[in-house]
Order: sequence, then structure tokens, then C-alpha cells
Amino acid sequence: MAQIPPNYDESKVPDLILPDPFVSLKGNPILTREDWENFRRPEILRLFEENMYGQVPKDFDDISFSEVTKSQNPYSNTAILKEVDIKVSRKGKTHSMRLNVFIPKSGSVPFPVFLLINYKPADPSGKLVETDFWVVEELVKQGYATASFHAETVAPDDKDKFAEGVIGTLYPEQLDQKDGMRALSAWAWGAMRAMDYFEKESLIDAKRAVLVGHSRAGKAALWASANDTRWAVTIPNESGCGGAALSKRKFGETVQVINTSFPHWFNDNFKAFNGKEELLPMDQHMLVSLIAPRAVYFSSAREDRWADPKGEYLSMKLGSRVYSQIYGKTINFPLDFEELKEPVIQPFAGYHIREGEHDLTLEDWKSYMDFVEMNLGRKDK
Ligand code: GCU
Repeated sequence: MAQIPPNYDESKVPDLILPDPFVSLKGNPILTREDWENFRRPEILRLFEENMYGQVPKDFDDISFSEVTKSQNPYSNTAILKEVDIKVSRKGKTHSMRLNVFIPKSGSVPFPVFLLINYKPADPSGKLVETDFWVVEELVKQGYATASFHAETVAPDDKDKFAEGVIGTLYPEQLDQKDGMRALSAWAWGAMRAMDYFEKESLIDAKRAVLVGHSRAGKAALWASANDTRWAVTIPNESGCGGAALSKRKFGETVQVINTSFPHWFNDNFKAFNGKEELLPMDQHMLVSLIAPRAVYFSSAREDRWADPKGEYLSMKLGSRVYSQIYGKTINFPLDFEELKEPVIQPFAGYHIREGEHDLTLEDWKSYMDFVEMNLGRKDK
């Protein structure tokens, strides 16, 4: 199929006909928390697994955590550095991923934690500084521990090599399945193993863990949190197509474009929706609904039209209805996208759009800290 140039014209966005999170596939209304959690939520999770992201296998035989000392600690005045090799074994094979963890030297233990899924490759010299992209110093100053892993240590971000990590080593049978694990599911799996570590580390409060990812790693963060309810707060930044943005708007990057450029991110079944977004039995607002009743925050950048900021806001606005309709909480997104100026920081669901381009910046992190403080509180306060 020939590639169609991206649409950036709002008047050309098709009329949105979105599946209703509160009506089951058989057409029954979903009104209670019981029906939602026991029936509709698993149904929606399976729709995403089957048609889009693929499975996130949960089984393995053994997991171990060992501290290694490989890098210099650039923040040694205020934080301790733990470099942790997480080794996971299944059926006699072992995969190892590296987690870099900074924990404040002072403050009250255990510390809430921010995990960043970092899709950028590790610095070949082993340097751990990421400045505005990963604001270790700021987070530590505010009383948070923070950790990150490079996505490539779980699954290489390469269409020919993506299986040369956890997929090929631990779960090779997934490669033969049309709804099998691919790179985004593998990165989500990596975040879960980091969470396994947090649960074992007494300096970290795993019950107050925040999952952050930018762009492709934001897609993985959302999918990780849909699968793993241990995350208290989920923050995908500018995650766009296949992340926060509604697919059926076909604004900016489309399903066909993403499947062509990055065929290793999503499962094989997703390719059937190239140019046919209207046939998808779900859309990304339903991914938001899977996070509830935990807190979720989306962020966009004004010039990042490729990621469809309006589609990201709309999916938050529509998907967060689950908090009021099912969980009886008050959520307010009164403004239209065009009217938004300030970050919407409120209990359970938040959003901001900042000026500028596709990136993860200190300005973004500051709003995340405000949202997290409102939603989780801090022990030392
Ligand atoms: C590409 C891709 C996006 C992705 C982005 C990123 O632009 O098309 O879907 O979010 O890379 O990860 O930075």
C-alpha cells in the first residue's frame, strides 16, 4: 500500500466513532466496579494484547539482583548510586538487564521512586548523566529515588535484532505467535522487573512508584502499567501514535506509518489495521481506562504535531471518565484542547502541553513532580 503523507489539517480528521469503554463486546452496559474489574477491564486488556502490543509473559523460573560497580556516581554529594544487574532465568536460559538507581542520602526512608524507561542507548563510556532528560539531581533534591534502564538491555530497538534480548532468550515461542511479544511489550516487561527490584529494596517504597517514558518509551510505560497494577502513577510523555494519541483521528503519525517504520514494536496482528484505523475494536482512551483507579498523567508539546497533542488530550479526557463513572471520583477536564494554558494537576488524572518540540525537559519533570506530590504525598512532608 502506498504511504499517504501525514495529515496535519484538523478539518480533514474523520468523524470520531470510538468504542465505548463502558459497553462490553456483547453490548452489555458496564456500570459497577465489580463488572469493570472482573469482566470489562480484562476484556479491554485482551483487545490491546491481541490486536496491538502482543503478550507480556509473566512466567519465569528465577530472578536475582546483584549490585555491580561500573560507573562513577555523578551525584555523589546527594545520592547513593546502585547499579543493579537483574538476572532472569527461564527454562535454563538467563537474560540480564542493568538498572541504575539513585537514592537520596538524606530524608525519610523508604523513598518514593521515579523509574524512567530510557530508549536512548547507553553512553559507551558508561556515563550516567542525562541532565534534562533524566533529572536525577532535581528528583533527589525533592526527596525521590530514581532509577532507569536502557531499553536496549531488554530488547534492541532494531527491526532485525529486537529478538536478541529477552524475547529470543527467555520467550522464543512468542516469535511464532501473531499476538506474541515484540519490542514494546519487552520494554514493558523490563519495567516490571525493575518493580520486582523495588519491592526487595528496603530504601525504596515500591507502593509509591512512578513510571515515566518519553515517546516510544512512553508507549511502553502505558502498556506496562496496563499489565502491572503495582505502578501508582503512570506518565507517558509525547507518546503519540500507539501511545496516548487516539489512532482513529489519523492525525500526524498513523498506524500504517508506524508499522512500516518500526515493524518490531507491535505484534503481527496490528499490521492488519494499516490504513484501517476505523476497524480497530479499541482506541487509546481505553488504555487510559486500564490504569484506573491509579493516577495517570499525559504530557504533550505544542510543536510535536507528529504525536498529535490534541489526540493525546482527547484520549485522556475520554478515558479518564472511568474514574468518575466506575470509581465515583471527581475528574475535571472542562477545557477544550485549544483553550489549555496551564497544566491540569488534579487527583487521579492530569495533563499538560508545553511550548516547544518533541523532547523530555525539566519543565515536564517539574509538572510531574507536582502531580505526583498531589497524588502520592511525600513521607518527609
Ligand atoms: C518516531 C516515531 C514515534 C516515536 C518517536 C520517538 O518519531 O515515529 O512513534 O514516538 O520516534 O520515540 O521519539
